[in-house]
Amino acid sequence: MTVLVTGGAGFIGSHFIERLLAEPGDGKIVCLDNFNHYYNPALKRANVARFSRNPRVIVVERSFCDVHAMRHLFDLHGVRQVVHLGGYAGVRASMVAPLEYEESNVRGTLTLLEAARTSPVERFLLVSSSTVYGPDVAVPFQEDTVLGTPLSPYGASKQAAELLGEMSYRQHGVPVVRLRPFSVYGPRMRPDLALHIFATAIDEGRPIALFGDGSVARDLTHISDICTGLLAALSADGVVNQAINLGHHAPVEVRQLIALVEQEFGRKAIVDQQPGLAIDMPVTCADLSKAERLLGYRPQVAIADGVRDFVAWFRQQKPAS
Ligand SMILES: NC(=O)c1ccc[n+]([C@@H]2O[C@H](COP(=O)([O-])OP(=O)(O)OC[C@H]3O[C@@H](n4cnc5c(N)ncnc54)[C@H](O)[C@@H]3O)[C@@H](O)[C@H]2O)c1
Repeated sequence: MTVLVTGGAGFIGSHFIERLLAEPGDGKIVCLDNFNHYYNPALKRANVARFSRNPRVIVVERSFCDVHAMRHLFDLHGVRQVVHLGGYAGVRASMVAPLEYEESNVRGTLTLLEAARTSPVERFLLVSSSTVYGPDVAVPFQEDTVLGTPLSPYGASKQAAELLGEMSYRQHGVPVVRLRPFSVYGPRMRPDLALHIFATAIDEGRPIALFGDGSVARDLTHISDICTGLLAALSADGVVNQAINLGHHAPVEVRQLIALVEQEFGRKAIVDQQPGLAIDMPVTCADLSKAERLLGYRPQVAIADGVRDFVAWFRQQKPAS
């Protein structure tokens, strides 16, 4: 049983491969990534170095937008499960370069769905995002509500990818499960994410740009809970053609998050107050009843523990960077 993990060199992908390796079994894991420059590719190479010597892992450096390469890869490695984590993530960056999001998140996802259509794939986890929910959706967000219009090209690209996944299931029987993670954080998280930015600024004594009054709240979810949810979705019954939230159901205001980081560093942040951004949802919060019913998913890591875990990692990796 070969599992293909796209974006396997990235933050979530590399953690998920490590989780797979910790599970019993001897199946192959194909780690597919093009090591793009959205952030420093050296960080992605360091992620992959954690498992690239494991004989179960095959690292493939290639874009999943390459139609012929994907058909060949599915055949060559006998791919039976796909965990599609690759793509461009980042709400604000998508306003600057929307076409990259369309290329990777929409065309790239369809390319993989097409390769899966002509292979005996048993499960295809299409990793979407909480950004598919528009600003008019009731909080907490329920999966089967009308999603509305996302605020960013990133959210729109994920909605489009989800629609293609649903279509591929209905027309071709590709066994797609749509997972919607909410603001994932933890060791090795992307440098463009808020917690990482705050930690870097506080550590270096530089100001933090705070957009609005700090009341914007995010349903921060620890990487280990996300990996547990993804793992469950690979084997659970009754999940194909479902959309499922993977969140925490405990939104944290940005000002609270800053306070937690200050506490860990024992140092006050220098806050540079800026006007609020129209692209920011005021709050995100996952309804988790469906995830619990279908996946037995219950997030375990409280925010204070998760921030402590992140800051410990941040401090320990610093001299090497
Ligand atoms: N981190 C979060 O808070 C979060 C929240 C919700 C959803 N997600 C989704 O989870 C997935 C992983 O996010 P992440 O935070 O680990 O991001 P990441 O940027 O660390 O990982 C994505 C990886 O995909 C690779 N990639 C991009 N385009 C590719 C292509 N065409 N071919 C091959 N590889 C390609 C990148 O090089 C990168 O290593 C993304 O789909 C993202 O939208 C993330």
